[in-house]
Amino acid sequence: MMKTYITVLFIFILCLLSFYGCDSKQTALTEKGGIWVVYDRECRKCHKASGKGSLVGRFVFKIPNFTNPKWQDNVSDSRLIISVANGKRKMPGFKGKLPDEEIVDLVKVCVRSFYPPQAQ
Ligand code: HEC
Repeated sequence: MMKTYITVLFIFILCLLSFYGCDSKQTALTEKGGIWVVYDRECRKCHKASGKGSLVGRFVFKIPNFTNPKWQDNVSDSRLIISVANGKRKMPGFKGKLPDEEIVDLVKVCVRSFYPPQAQ
């Protein structure tokens, strides 16, 4: 009995870890200052410091990989700004929660900076 319980618990923890991912670059992000502080606070939990999104998030929630050049080439700033403002499926909208200028900067500065992928 106990063994089954421990196995189930272990698998559960593994799932949690793979969902949230290890995100060791957290402090490096805030150190960049400016709009990155907002990214770190509002966006990192889903999109990660790497901009790639967690593995499970990518498959289950269709989180885009910001470091993918094909994705970057196919999305306009205005579309991304509207998505962040109004929300898109599993992503909440940030209009009203964040000032408009911050939403614009999050897309133009943060999201676009992952292309080309930054040196690690
Ligand atoms: C709760 C998790 C979550 C948070 C927090 C979150 N996102 Fe997202 N984001 C998602 C998901 C899921 C998608 C994929 C939406 C879809 O296409 O179904 C997404 C998509 C996007 C896209 C692509 C939109 C498009 O038009 O394809 C951008 C850009 C983006 N997020 C930026 C941000 C920014 C900037 C923040 C912080 C202000 C943020 N996200 C916070 C989950 C999140």
